[in-house]
Amino acid sequence: MTHPTRAIRIHQTGGPEQLQLDHITAGEPGPGEVRIRHHAIGLNFIDVYHRTGLYPLALPATLGGEGAGVIEAVGDGVTHLKVGDRAAYAGAGAGSYCDVRVLPAMTVCRLPDNIAFDTAAAMMLKGLTAQYLLLGCRPVEGLNSGDHVLFHAAAGGVGLIACQWARHLGLKLIATAGSDEKCALALEHGAVHAINYRTENFAQRVREITGGAGVKVVYDSVGKDTWEGSLDCLQPLGLMVSFGNASGPVPPFSPAILAAKGSIYVTRQTLFSHIRTRERCQAMADALFEVVSSGAVNIRIDQRYPLEQVQEAHRHLEARATTGSTVLLP
Ligand SMILES: NC(=O)c1ccc[n+]([C@@H]2O[C@H](COP(=O)([O-])OP(=O)(O)OC[C@H]3O[C@@H](n4cnc5c(N)ncnc54)[C@H](OP(=O)(O)O)[C@@H]3O)[C@@H](O)[C@H]2O)c1
Repeated sequence: MTHPTRAIRIHQTGGPEQLQLDHITAGEPGPGEVRIRHHAIGLNFIDVYHRTGLYPLALPATLGGEGAGVIEAVGDGVTHLKVGDRAAYAGAGAGSYCDVRVLPAMTVCRLPDNIAFDTAAAMMLKGLTAQYLLLGCRPVEGLNSGDHVLFHAAAGGVGLIACQWARHLGLKLIATAGSDEKCALALEHGAVHAINYRTENFAQRVREITGGAGVKVVYDSVGKDTWEGSLDCLQPLGLMVSFGNASGPVPPFSPAILAAKGSIYVTRQTLFSHIRTRERCQAMADALFEVVSSGAVNIRIDQRYPLEQVQEAHRHLEARATTGSTVLLP
């Protein structure tokens, strides 16, 4: 049997105008799969990389990496979900910008009753990312309560979750953001200092704030524009965690630079390595559900759009005009 669904697809890569509303069908779930009816869909910067072709997809492609809704059908071998369950997911590959979808059950998690669908859709990809960055990606000398870290684009979707989770862990998170208003938001959410990196030299400011010592970890999703400055913020043996390229990909570099900056470590991370098994994904999701349920982390949805207004949502995200998370409502 097939189930009609609207889907936001690209038939070729390019600008937001390439996002088009198509009418397609979803089938029955095969072994290891489920069918979910979305109640809310999360927007993420990776959707922009998919749309522009920076991260290539087979075309035509339905975009979107995050969603929440109700399980409508369960394939053979799926034991952790049943029909009627409230559920949410990230990391199942692109395809969440639609009403109904068949996808591998591996990263789909049952949603606690106290977490609303829109909150779940706003937090799975971003919150699991904040989780692995702060807890699953450690510098060689460890990361302890009271340590300074630097987090770029801290007023964004991943950023505001990371600010709060870092405060919860006792870390002193220094935020950067692209306006004074965004800096104020990062401070409100747990950053101990905030630097407007459009008007200030952030590397210089980080040295001042840390009394010359530098930070143990830099979390950098901005890429090209912040790469060099970020390396200058680290303590000897510190860790540079590159996890995105909002301003463009990091250019090639010589390993010798790592010695010159204090024998620092560099890693390029992706969520998909961390949630590669059902057990890992569920354990990370449980940690996220716990901090959200306890109130330690509040998921801030600052933009909501009907699914069909997805072009506008992409324009805002790319123009650095958003804060916190954005959801699309089917
Ligand atoms: N590797 C992973 O596992 C993983 C997982 C999730 C997300 N990410 C990455 O994490 C980052 C945050 O994702 P998100 O979905 O939460 O997005 P977001 O932070 O809400 O939006 C991106 C932010 O990047 C900043 N930025 C700096 N230079 C920019 C430029 N030239 N163009 C556009 N934005 C620029 C902007 O904040 P300011 O105005 O404050 O600079 C913008 O708001 C993205 O780079 C994403 O790819 C990586």
